Amino acid sequence: MTQLYHTPMIVLGIETTCDETAAAVVQRDDEGHGHILANVVLSQINEHAEFGGVVPEIAARAHVEVLDTIIAGAMGEAKLSYDGLDGVAAAAGPGLIGGVIVGLTMAKAIAFVHHKPLIAVNHLEAHALTARLTDATPFPYCLFLASGGHTQILGVRGVGDYVLLGGTVDDAIGEAFDKTAKLLGLGYPGGPQVEKEAARGDPARFALPRPMAGRQDANFSLSGLKTALRIEAEKIAPLSDDDVADLCASFQQAVAEVVMDRLRAGLGMFVERIGKPTALVCAGGVAANQAIRKALHRVAFEIGTSLVAPPPALCTDNGAMIAWAGAERLALGLTDPLSVAPRARWPLEEVTKAAEELAAK
Ligand code: KG4
Ligand code: ZN
Repeated sequence: MTQLYHTPMIVLGIETTCDETAAAVVQRDDEGHGHILANVVLSQINEHAEFGGVVPEIAARAHVEVLDTIIAGAMGEAKLSYDGLDGVAAAAGPGLIGGVIVGLTMAKAIAFVHHKPLIAVNHLEAHALTARLTDATPFPYCLFLASGGHTQILGVRGVGDYVLLGGTVDDAIGEAFDKTAKLLGLGYPGGPQVEKEAARGDPARFALPRPMAGRQDANFSLSGLKTALRIEAEKIAPLSDDDVADLCASFQQAVAEVVMDRLRAGLGMFVERIGKPTALVCAGGVAANQAIRKALHRVAFEIGTSLVAPPPALCTDNGAMIAWAGAERLALGLTDPLSVAPRARWPLEEVTKAAEELAAK
C-alpha cells in the first residue's frame, strides 16, 4: 500500500475491549515515527478482583462511568482541543462486546461532531503495531502476543498484512497464569503473583509436562499443564508457603520452555514463508514476565535477530497502541464509515483479507 498523507498527524485512541478504560493522543510524524502526547489508563482490577476474573457486565458499566473523564484527561495532557485532531480511533474488537460498544460509540460521536475521520481499529492489530510506535521496527517482523485473552505467533508484513503462524488450541498463556494463581489461592490478576512466588521457588521440584513440545506446527495448548499442576498440588495438600513457591516456579519454567519450543517452530515457519524477520517482538501482559522475556531473548539470539520488547505499560492494553494503529491506517487512507459495527470476534486474518480485497479493487 502506498502512503497517502505525508503531513504529521495526531490521532485520539480509545481502548475499552477488556478491563482497562484508556485514551491516548499520539502523533505520527512525516517520517512515520510516533510520539505519545498523552496516555491515560484506568484499570478496573479492583472492580473485578473479588470475582477472580473480569465480569463483562461490570466492565461495560465501569467504562461508561469513566470514559468521558479519561478522554478529557488525555486531551488536556496533550494540550489539544478536538479541532487539533486529524482522526479518532477506537478499538472496535475483538473483546467483550459491551465494552467495545462503549468505546466505539464514543469515538463515533466525537468524529461526527467534530468532522474527523473515524478509524475502527482491531485490538490485535494495535498490539501488533506497537513496536513501530516504540522502536520504529521495520516490516517484516515476528510478533509473539501473549495476554489474558490471546496467545499468537504472527508474521507482521505490513499495516493490515498479518500471517497467523500459531495460536492456542485452548487457554491463553495469561489465562493459564491466572487460573494457576486462583488454584493456589493467590490474587487476581495472577501472572504477577505467580512470578513473585516463583522467584523463591524450586523450578525442578515438580515434573510438569511441556505440552506440544517438538511438534512441527507452532500452536500452544496450556490446559493440560494447568491440570497437571492441580494434580501435583492435590497430592501434597495442604500446601505450605514453600510448596506454593515451588509449584509456581515449576509452572513458570514449564511455560517458558513451551514458549521457547513453540517460538522456534513459529520462527522457522516465518523464515520459510516470509524470509528473515527484522526482529522478534513481544506484546501482551505476559511479556512483562522476566522468565518469559529471558526465553524470548534466547530464541531471538538463536536465529540471529534481536528482541523488541516495548515497555510493560505499552505491552498491556492501552490507548496509545489504538491511537498509533489508527495513525498508521489513516496515513494509508484507511478510514471507516460511522456505520462500522463493533465486533466481539475479529481474527486478524479478516483484517488481512479486507486489505487484500481493497487492494484488488
Ligand atoms: O495484555 P493484558 O494486560 O490484557 C489482556 O488480557 O488483554 O494481559 C493481562 C494478562 C493477565 O492474564 C495477567 O495475569 C498476565 O497478562 N500477566 C502476567 C504478568 N503480568 C501480567 N503473566 C505472567 N507474568 C507476569 N508478570
Ligand atoms: Zn490486549
